[in-house]
Amino acid sequence: MSVSDFNPLDPETVECPYPFYAAMRREAPVYQVPGAGFFIVSRYQDMKTVLLDTQTFTSKTGPGVRQEPPKEVVDILSQGWLPVDTLLTNDPPAHRRYRGLVNKAFTPRRVALLEPSVRAIANDLVDAFIADGRVELVSQFAVPLPLTVIANALGVPPADQAHFKRWSDDAVAPLGGMITPERELECARSTVEFQRYFAAKLDERRAAPQDDILTDLLNARLEGETPLDTAEMLSILQQLLVAGNETTTNLIASAMLLLLQNPQQLAAVRADHSLIPNCVEEALRCESPVQGLFRMARLDTELGGVKIPAGSRLVLMYASANRDDQEFPQAERFDVCRANAKDHVAFGAGVHYCLGAPLARLEATVAFETLLGRLQHIRLAEDKNDYRHTPSFILRGLKALYLEFDQEAA
Ligand code: HEM
Repeated sequence: MSVSDFNPLDPETVECPYPFYAAMRREAPVYQVPGAGFFIVSRYQDMKTVLLDTQTFTSKTGPGVRQEPPKEVVDILSQGWLPVDTLLTNDPPAHRRYRGLVNKAFTPRRVALLEPSVRAIANDLVDAFIADGRVELVSQFAVPLPLTVIANALGVPPADQAHFKRWSDDAVAPLGGMITPERELECARSTVEFQRYFAAKLDERRAAPQDDILTDLLNARLEGETPLDTAEMLSILQQLLVAGNETTTNLIASAMLLLLQNPQQLAAVRADHSLIPNCVEEALRCESPVQGLFRMARLDTELGGVKIPAGSRLVLMYASANRDDQEFPQAERFDVCRANAKDHVAFGAGVHYCLGAPLARLEATVAFETLLGRLQHIRLAEDKNDYRHTPSFILRGLKALYLEFDQEAA
C-alpha cells in the first residue's frame, strides 16, 4: 500500500501502524499529512537531527495531538495549579534548570535503592495468581507493578494507591486525540484532584521531611537557580506519574507477547536470563510504548529535502525510526540478541532523553526475571485474546493479554 492510502488517525491504522510507517519511510520520510496540519518524521537519521537541534525544533508545542484545550477544560484546570512547562514541553535554557533540579531527586542512587522493592512487588503480584494457572497479564501484573513502584517511591500510602491508576489514565487519555468531550472534562477534574493531593503531601513533607523523592524535590537546589515552586513540582510529579506508568505497563505486556510469538527467542531467554536486559531493549525497539511525540519548527527549515515552514508541528515517530532498516538490519525481526538494540530511540535522545529510563529498564528486567523464573510453559490463551491496543496515536499498549502457564517446579 502507498502512503496516501493511510489515514494516520484512523483507528485501524493506529491499531496496526507498521505498514503505514514502512510506506512513509519508503515514499515520504518527512510526510505532510493531508488535512492534519503536521508532518511525520519516520526515519532514524532525520529523527536524530530533530532531537539534537533544539534551536530549530521546540518542544513547547504540547505533547498531544491537539495544542490548545477547549475553554471548558481550561476553566476546570484553573481551579487547580495552571500547567507549567517544566520538562517534556520545555526547551533549553529553562529546561536545564528543571532537569538539573529533578536529577537531584531522581538519582541513580534512588533507582538502585528501589530494586529490592521492585522485586518484592513483582513476586507478590505473581503470588496472587500463580495457583490459578492463568493470568490476564496487563491488569494483574503489568499495570500494578510500575504503579506500586512509583507510588511507593513518591511515599504514597497503599490506601491511596487506588487513585493512582485513574489519575495516570486520565492524564494520558487526552493526549491521543481520541476521546469524547465529556471524557476530556472528567480528565481535567482528575488533574485538579491529583494536584490537590500532592500539594497537601508536599506541605506534609515541608513540615516533616522524609527520605523520599518528594522531600528531595522540595530540597533540590542548584547554584544560581531558584528552587522549585509548588506549581513546578506538581507539573514534574504529574510527569513522573504519567510517564512512568502506562509506558512501562505497555512495555512489559508487549515484550511478553513478542516472546510468545517468537518461541525460539523465548527459549533463548529462558535458557539464559542474562539476555533479559537486551530482550527489553529489543521489545522497546519493536513495540515502542511511546510511538511518537510532537515538536514545532521555530523557523523556516528543511528536513530530508522537505521544506518545513516556521510554526509547523512535527510528529517524531519513534516507533517508525526504530524499524528503520538503515539502522536496524531486518528491522521487522524481533531478535533478543540484536547487537545494536539499545540504539533505539524509544526513550528519545538529547536533552529530553527519558528521565525514567533507568527505572523502566529495572522494572522490565525484574518483571521478566520473575515471570520467567516462576512460570513454566507460558502460552497464549488463544480463545480469549483479541490482541487489540488502547486507541492512541501517541501511546501503544495492549488492552489485555491472557496467558496460561504451569506452576514453578517444586
Ligand atoms: C518503557 C517506559 C518508558 C518509555 C518508553 C518512555 C519514553 C520517553 C520518551 C520517548 C521521552 C522523550 C520525550 C521527548 O523526546 O520529548 C521521555 C521523557 C521523559 N520520561 Fe520517559 N519513558 C518511560 C518510562 C518513564 C518512567 C518510568 C519515568 C519516571 C518515573 C519517565 C519519566 C520521563 C520524564 C519526566 C520525561 C521528560 C524528560 C525531559 O523532557 O527532560 N519515563 N520518556
